[in-house]
Order: sequence, then C-alpha cells, then structure tokens
Amino acid sequence: MNPMLNIAIRAARKAGNIIAKGYEQAANETTVTLKSTNDYVTQIDKAAEEAIIEVIRKSYPDHSIVGEESGVLAGSNTDVQWIIDPLDGTTNFVKRFPHFAVSIAIREKGRTEVGVVYDPIRNELFTAVRGEGAKLNEFRLRISSDRRDLAGAVLATGFPFKVAKHRPAHLNMLEALMNNGVADFRRTGSAALDLAYVASGRIDGFFEIGLKPWDCAAGDLIAREAGVLVSNFVGGTDYLSSGNVVAGSGRVVKEILNSIQPVLTEELKA
Ligand code: IPD
Ligand code: CA
Ligand code: CA
Repeated sequence: MNPMLNIAIRAARKAGNIIAKGYEQAANETTVTLKSTNDYVTQIDKAAEEAIIEVIRKSYPDHSIVGEESGVLAGSNTDVQWIIDPLDGTTNFVKRFPHFAVSIAIREKGRTEVGVVYDPIRNELFTAVRGEGAKLNEFRLRISSDRRDLAGAVLATGFPFKVAKHRPAHLNMLEALMNNGVADFRRTGSAALDLAYVASGRIDGFFEIGLKPWDCAAGDLIAREAGVLVSNFVGGTDYLSSGNVVAGSGRVVKEILNSIQPVLTEELKA
C-alpha cells in the first residue's frame, strides 16, 4: 500500500474516533464558536485536527500541512502538502445529525496523489491513490455510465449559506436543473461525502459554489479515480481554487453545465 495512504488512513481513523466520542456526549457539552456568518467550529474539530497533525508529523516531519483550523503549517518540504478538513459537516455534528466526515488529501507539486474521506458514524472509508482507483472500504468504486441525460437524476448540492451574494444564482441553478429533468436534490451537509457518494453511485451528481480546498480535494480524487468527471461551472479544471465544483459522469456533467449556463453570473463563469 502507498505509505502515505497508510498514514492518512491512520490519521483519519484517529480523528474519526475523537469525533465519534464527541458525538456520544450530550450536545451541550460541545463548545460551539462562531467563526463567521453561519460558520461554526467546536473543540472536537480542533482536537481532531491536532490528532491528524500529530500522526502526520510523526512519519513526515518535513511535509507541509494546510488545516482548516490551523491554517498553513509550512514544512521544509514544500513539494508535499497535506490538506486537512478534520470535520467536514460541523453544522450536522453540532445538531447531532449523523452525517459528517474527516477529509485528508495529499498533494505533490500541486497534484493530488492520495485522498481519504472517513465517515466515523457508518465506519465507511473512501480512499484513492492517483492512477490506482478508488475504494469504499475494501471494495473498488467505478461509476456506471448508463445515464444518458438528467431525467430522474438525483443531485447533491450545498446552499451558499456562508456567502449570501450567490443565493439567487444558486436558486436559479436548482430551477434550471429541475426544468431539465432532475428528479430531486439532496443537501447532506458534507461536501467531502457528497463527492464520495457520487463516486459510489449513491447520487448521480453534485454541484456547489465556493468550496475550500479542504472540503473537496480528497473527494475530488476519490471521485475522479472512480470514473467521475469533475469540473468548474464552465467545463474548466480550476475548481480547487475557485471552489465552484460540478461532478458526475461525463454525460451528467455535460447536461448540468448546459442547464446552468444561462443563469450563471459573471463571477461564477470565471
Ligand atoms: C462545509 C460542508 C458543507 C458545505 C460547506 C462547507 P464544514 O464544511 O462541506 O457541505 O456546503 O460549504 O464549508 O464547515 O462543515 O467543514
Ligand atoms: Ca468542510
Ligand atoms: Ca470542517
């Protein structure tokens, strides 16, 4: 097994145990702090991130780390960067809605090599190594390419609940997609799991505005290694920096892009 994948899994499971224990506590034992509008952090997010960093540092003391809660921890090796979201789905966690995950990506010279998304509630471990495919636990993931259009499709999305200016465009996108046959939407509250769920065929596609690299870098590799096409809103590949992400089979992505094109604002086309 890729040695860095091994360490990423160890770190994700350790963080997952911290999150699962925190979840068992009474909700009022969780200290919730507001970072910005509708954006929360708890002591569990922080403890999980610390545990992940400790595991990485033990094996790779020189690697660089970007953590949602710690920011950039530059290492002497700037070629290898770990991108961590210790708890993707904090709002769900705070409400004791059991759907959240640990997300860890490893990028080398700007290319994602390893992705791990771990759901501690269901004990589901999604992993991928570039060029070696994606797995859910020990099972290989490969999406089906049967779907020809959006008729009857179920898509996941995230509302732009932290950035109000994109709300009208997002609602217009939902309407345009429904007018083109989308049957229903899921708003699960974890972008990392949304991408992993596209990879495992649980949903037909996903789109969201303005994600951060720690939300989607690991899920992106897992999805692509399962045969999913990931793009920005105009078919480009800079989605990790813009955070505007569309994912699905080639057909589904093409149909999503065609559907949303007429309602995109200039900012969302960039
Ligand atoms: C959030 C989740 C959510 C998405 C938000 C993210 P967090 O991450 O991924 O699904 O809609 O944009 O910020 O804050 O729970 O780590
Ligand atoms: Ca996140
Ligand atoms: Ca988070």
